[in-house]
Amino acid sequence: MPHLFNFSYHNPTQIHFGPDSFALLATLIPVEARVLLLYGGGSIKANGVYAQVTQALAAHAVVEFGGVEANPTLETLNRAVAVVRAEKLDFILGVGGGSVSDGAKFVAAAALYEGDGWDIVCGRYAVTEALPVGVVLTLPATGSESNAAAVVTRAATREKRVFYAQPARPRFAILNPGVMVSLPDRQLANGLVDAFVHVCEQYLTVPLGALVQDGYAEAVLRALKTLADTFDRRREPDWGQNLMWAANQALCGIIGVGVPHDWATHRIAVQLTALYGIDHGRTLSILQPWLLRESIGGKRAKLEQMGRNVFGLENASAEATIAAIEALYRRVNMPVHLHEAGITDADAADRVLAAAQTQGFGRFGGVAPLSEGQVERIIRAACGG
Ligand code: NZQ
Ligand code: ZN
Repeated sequence: MPHLFNFSYHNPTQIHFGPDSFALLATLIPVEARVLLLYGGGSIKANGVYAQVTQALAAHAVVEFGGVEANPTLETLNRAVAVVRAEKLDFILGVGGGSVSDGAKFVAAAALYEGDGWDIVCGRYAVTEALPVGVVLTLPATGSESNAAAVVTRAATREKRVFYAQPARPRFAILNPGVMVSLPDRQLANGLVDAFVHVCEQYLTVPLGALVQDGYAEAVLRALKTLADTFDRRREPDWGQNLMWAANQALCGIIGVGVPHDWATHRIAVQLTALYGIDHGRTLSILQPWLLRESIGGKRAKLEQMGRNVFGLENASAEATIAAIEALYRRVNMPVHLHEAGITDADAADRVLAAAQTQGFGRFGGVAPLSEGQVERIIRAACGG
C-alpha cells in the first residue's frame, strides 16, 4: 500500500475561547511566576484589555514592556530580553496581535540563549529551550497564538525573517472576541486575507487524495469567503467570532499535516514589509494573484478543486478561481498591486527582486520550485510601474 502521509502532530497550546476568558489568567500562570507583560503600541490601554489583564494578575509579580512594533524588531525585543534578565522574570505573557505573540516567543527563547539573538532568527541557533509563553490575542490573523513560528525584523539591515521555536510555542492562548471591537476595518481585512492565504499555502499545491486535510482546508476557506461576502456585517459578534476561530485554525498546523506546502507568496511578500513597511496581510493580496497566474501550470488541478468546492464555480477553471480570489480581496478593500498600497517608487520591482534574491530563488515554490524568471515576472507584475 503506498504511504500517503508521514507526520507527527502535537499542538500543546491550550485555547480558551470566550467572553469571560481574561479572568482565567489568574490561574493559568503560576502565582509564584515573575511575569513579563509584553505589549505593542498602546491599543490595549485604550480599549480596556490592559486593565482587565492587570486586574486578573493582581496577585502576580508583573513587569511591563510596551512598544513592540507591528513587524517587531530585533532591536526592541533585545531591550525586552534585557529587562527579563535584569528583573529575573520567568514567564512571558504577550498581549497583542501576531507581532506581540511573535515577539514573546523571541524574548522567551533569547532570554535563555547567551549568544546574539539574531542567531535564533536566521537559524544559526536552533532553539532548544525557552521560558514559558502565554498569549492574550487582540487581533485574529496570523495564528501565532498557537503555533511555533515567529517573524522578526532586524531594522539595521531591513531583514525580516521567520524562525520556528517549539519550546516557545504558547502554553495557552486566550481568544476573547470582545477585544475586536476596537480593531480598525483595515486590520479586520488584513486578518481575513492573512488567514485565507495561510490556508492556500498549505492547500494550493498538487492533489494528493488527502480527504481530511483538503476538506478541512476548504471548510476554513469557505468560512473566510463567507466573512468576505458579509464584510458589511463585520461589527456583528458572530462575524468576529468566526474570524477569530478561522484565523487560528488556518495556521495552528492541523490543515497542513502530511501534505505538501508552498509558502512562496509569504516568502516573497515579506520583502514588501521589510522595504516599505506595508501591513503583512496587504503584501499577500498584492502578490498572491500574480504568483498564482505565474505558477498556474503546477497548481491547475488544485485551483480547479478550489473553484468548485470553495467558490461554487461550475466547470471551474484555474483562471476563474484566481479571478475569484482577486475579487474576494477587492471586496474587502485590499490592494492587488503595489501602487494600490500607495507605493510609487519607480524602482520598487528592482528593489524587491534584489531583496528576494538574497534568500535564494531555489527556496520559493514548494513541490514545483519557481524559476528565477518566474519570480522576476511575479515581482514585476505585482510591483512594476
Ligand atoms: O501595537 P498596538 O498598539 O497593539 O496596535 C496594533 C498594531 O498597530 C493593532 N491592534 C492589535 N490589536 C488591536 C489593535 N488595534 C486596536 N484594537 C485591537 N484589539 O493592530 C496593528 C497590527 O498589529 P500586528 O500584531 O502587527 O498585526 P498582525 O496580527 O497581523 O501580525 C503581523 C505580524 O505577524 C507576522 C507578520 O509577518 C507580522 O510581523 N506573522 C506571523 C506568523 C506566525 N507567527 O505564524 C505568520 C504570519 O504569516 C505572519 O508572517
Ligand atoms: Zn501570513
